[in-house]
Amino acid sequence: MLRLIGFPWFMSDKRDFMLYRQNSLEALPSIPDCTVDMIFADPPYFLSNGGSTCSGGKRSLVDKGDWDQSCGVNENHAFNLAWLKECRRILKPDGTIFVSGTHHVIFSLGFAMQQLEMKILNEISWFKVNPPPNLACRYFTHATESIIWAAPSAQSRHYFDYHAMKEENGGKQMQSVWSIQPPRKQEKRFGKHPTQKPLELLLRIVKASTRPGDLVLDPFSGSGTTGVACALLERRFMGIELNPDYLTIARQRYLSLDEETVVEERAKSFRKPTSMAARTLKAPQSNTPGLFDGIQTPGLVPENDEVVAPGIPGTGPEDSDPPGPRRRR
Ligand SMILES: C[S@@+](CC[C@H](N)C(=O)[O-])C[C@H]1O[C@@H](n2cnc3c(N)ncnc32)[C@H](O)[C@@H]1O
Repeated sequence: MLRLIGFPWFMSDKRDFMLYRQNSLEALPSIPDCTVDMIFADPPYFLSNGGSTCSGGKRSLVDKGDWDQSCGVNENHAFNLAWLKECRRILKPDGTIFVSGTHHVIFSLGFAMQQLEMKILNEISWFKVNPPPNLACRYFTHATESIIWAAPSAQSRHYFDYHAMKEENGGKQMQSVWSIQPPRKQEKRFGKHPTQKPLELLLRIVKASTRPGDLVLDPFSGSGTTGVACALLERRFMGIELNPDYLTIARQRYLSLDEETVVEERAKSFRKPTSMAARTLKAPQSNTPGLFDGIQTPGLVPENDEVVAPGIPGTGPEDSDPPGPRRRR
């Protein structure tokens, strides 16, 4: 049912969690119109251009990877317009999309959405509770990321679980400023992704905007945070990612979900999701021979809920140079 793009790199035995190793610009056009209920997109921010940041108390180069290097304002915007146009096409008329970014990319993303005549529903500020200090002392400390929530058109009648959000906010209306910690150590136990989003952020987004069984797509799925949130909340998930190392982390996070759930519950890092399905951890029946070779079931990770050193999750550079042109691969 979910095999919309072609042969998946990984597919769960229930076929409700799929990972594709593909370039989104090539994969998205093969998804039929009006198929997806919700999209969460955490695209390249184009901030790895020789600037510096503070990581673990020390000045370090901002280098998330080649995929994060700027190709110049015009080419970056053309890229954003291209994948957003496909996202708009494949969203159901009443579906929605969340797109995250810092100032390096968020204006292009917002403008592209306006060009595509999408309906902006909210601009959410994710306040990163413990941001790294600004070493240059010439700027305010970068402490937020923006998340634009939009529907495909002005006619859309989008879904919003108002009551779940109110409950999560202690009985008061959920506002558009969200204080959420960076990913915890145990969220990174299968490997580090340089811009991994906190699970708590994705749980809130998925819970607010989808119903159980809905189909969620992440075109830049990285370490699979969106997929983990979907699995915990019983939504179907498709992730697209270029880098096999990140796909491997995502697959491992999914396969160890029982443990993740237990550790998360113990750590109380999020308020109880509406349906915390007990999932059986078992080797998937392989439709993709050889795919699961060498996968170990890891032991339960001891409770260790320290916050990872500031500066890890998609933090903007302190005083990065303006993006220089570079050819997109
Ligand atoms: C900002 S990260 C997403 C992190 C993710 N939200 C998480 O929690 O781990 C963006 C990801 O997009 C991937 N990527 C970049 N360009 C891509 C493309 N054209 N198609 C598919 N994936 C791409 C990168 O490898 C990177 O892992």
